[in-house]
Amino acid sequence: MIDATAHDEKRGGFGGLHVIAFESRMAAETRALIERFGGRAMVAPAMAEAPIEDNPAAFEFADRLLAGGFDVVIFLTGVGVRELFRALDGRYRREDLVAALRGATTVARGPKPAAALRELGVEPSISVPEPNTWREILAAVDELAKIAERRIAIQEYGTANHDLCAALEARGAVVTAVPVYRWTMPADREPLRAAIRAIVERQADCVLFTSSHQIANLMRQAADDGALPQLRQGLNRAAVGSIGPICAAELRARGIEVDIEPAHPKLGHLVKAAAAQAPAIIEQKRKSALAGARMAAPQARTQKGGEADISPLYARADHPLLRACRRERPPYTPVWLMRQAGRYMPEYRRVRERHSFLEMCQRPELAAEVTVTAVERLGVDAAIIFADILLPLLPLNVGLHYEKGDGPVIDRPVRRAADLERAAPLASAEALGFVGDAIKMTRTALGDRKPIIGFAGAPFTLASYLIEGGGSRNYQATKTLMYTQPDLWDRIMKMIVRVTGDYLNLQIEAGADLVQIFDSWVGCLGPDDYRRYVMPYSRATIAAVRSGTPVIHFSADTASLLELMRAAGGDVIGVDWRVDLAHAWARLGDGVGVQGNFDPIALFADTGEIRRRAKAILDAAGGRPGHIFNLGHGILPETPVDNVRALIDIVHELSAR
Ligand code: CP3
Repeated sequence: MIDATAHDEKRGGFGGLHVIAFESRMAAETRALIERFGGRAMVAPAMAEAPIEDNPAAFEFADRLLAGGFDVVIFLTGVGVRELFRALDGRYRREDLVAALRGATTVARGPKPAAALRELGVEPSISVPEPNTWREILAAVDELAKIAERRIAIQEYGTANHDLCAALEARGAVVTAVPVYRWTMPADREPLRAAIRAIVERQADCVLFTSSHQIANLMRQAADDGALPQLRQGLNRAAVGSIGPICAAELRARGIEVDIEPAHPKLGHLVKAAAAQAPAIIEQKRKSALAGARMAAPQARTQKGGEADISPLYARADHPLLRACRRERPPYTPVWLMRQAGRYMPEYRRVRERHSFLEMCQRPELAAEVTVTAVERLGVDAAIIFADILLPLLPLNVGLHYEKGDGPVIDRPVRRAADLERAAPLASAEALGFVGDAIKMTRTALGDRKPIIGFAGAPFTLASYLIEGGGSRNYQATKTLMYTQPDLWDRIMKMIVRVTGDYLNLQIEAGADLVQIFDSWVGCLGPDDYRRYVMPYSRATIAAVRSGTPVIHFSADTASLLELMRAAGGDVIGVDWRVDLAHAWARLGDGVGVQGNFDPIALFADTGEIRRRAKAILDAAGGRPGHIFNLGHGILPETPVDNVRALIDIVHELSAR
């Protein structure tokens, strides 16, 4: 029994990790145990018992047993003992069989077959000690005198135990296998498929096996789906637990490392051991994957180092997110979150404690690490590269820095022609190569499993920081400049368009699959101003993006500007929660995708409310091709991580088609 208190179980537990188990008979108990230890359970039955109804081998066994033809009978499972006698019931008298068994040496592999034998009225001569592998059976049988030439029957449990047969035969015994039932694939294979998918896509942190047949069937299904190598890679990236040595040997024989084995081969002990060990194991595996990525980064495209050789279930171009960008119908609604790699995440805060925000952006290995961690922790459908929309202002020498609590500050804002003349010649995306390096490292770490999103600020939002010198409430300096010095405005905007276009293409060159343009603050303008002072520049920026790369055009608080934003460009328009998604899409028309629009503050509600709201958004999208689920704006630093993970799971679950 497990003796930890509920409190200890949670504290020392899975901590919200995704745990997959394959139990059939004990599915409900397994789920409850995993959840009790703080895991998110996915239990996918991997096998079904198919009794061999017309079983000539069983009849042959009975005939020989009754004729005194066996000296030793080994029973491997409790279910098997009962099933065997049930199959024989129609043809043989049970008391005759029992009497014959009492005349032989009966070996029970453990307490379960022993109990089944006692039910029949047979006290087993030998009960094999834990961990009940073939080695303990062999040791027990070896104790018997004159093993050579003994006639031994082995009640099998699905597949033959070749090791045991071979070892007994090597000792001169005559071995007869008695197959009782076989394991088949479950009638409904979909849960098994879903588990394979989750493992391949790295959405399973811990995978638990409780019988070797589960392994065989899992591998068989993966082979049927053409995903065997990916499954193996996915398993070796997760923390893998095996209930006992038989199961562990089967895993190792199939090239899968076993990370967790409990002291006793029992379900409760396995889950408890996994809860205690899995978090550290996956942290360790993630670190070494990133180390591999670091080493391989300079030649990321040509060298198969680190994790570069991971191949996913589908080509990257067919990932659901990229299919949504093309307004095709993906198998589920893809989801990622603006600011998914940020302060709400303890892993981020740990890195941030040791490095300034700008240092994190400028050191590709740190940027890649937090980018990848967010993807792995959340199970989102894309990585957005860790960077900032203001980075293109760095080379302008305007004194960009980030103040704790206050956000970005620009010491020398651009408000006059002379300011621009100083800054403009310095404007170049070349200084931003570190973002490209971070994308390459992220690609190496993620392989082809997830698309990478590059991003930049839209010209208006970037200009507002440059002119205001930081965040703003009324955009007084920006709008005043726009209204009073339209030529200067035009030159500032053109400079930004040039750098931003180059910067986006640099990210695409490095491996970004799509880009998002953030016009976070353009909602402070009315439609006329947007048309005149913003639209030409946003359009030019989007047009500069290398063709073939999808563009998401995002803004907030722009209910009055949606049609104009659509006209400015983008394959997908990002909308916030202030608009009804169905209405917004009706206004935008079917020729464009829509991203959004969950209120980030609703992540502070309970999961029931989160579910209700996610469903409302999916219903509003109505399965129309081209919906990408996202927040209406970035995640706030105080957001509970568990709710963020719950949202991702909910979207995947509710939208599966
Ligand atoms: O989405 C991601 O996970 C990728 C990283 C990302 C950051 N900023 C990291 C960041 C992205 C996409 C951005 C975009 C960004 N940056 C926008 C547009 C999105 C939006 O929210 O509208 C804007 C306006 C900025 C400018 C900016 N950078 C502000 C206003 C702030 C301070 C506010 C805040 O959230 O702290 C930043 C700093 C910043 N950018 C942080 C992060 C993780 C916090 C830095 C820290 O750790 O102290």
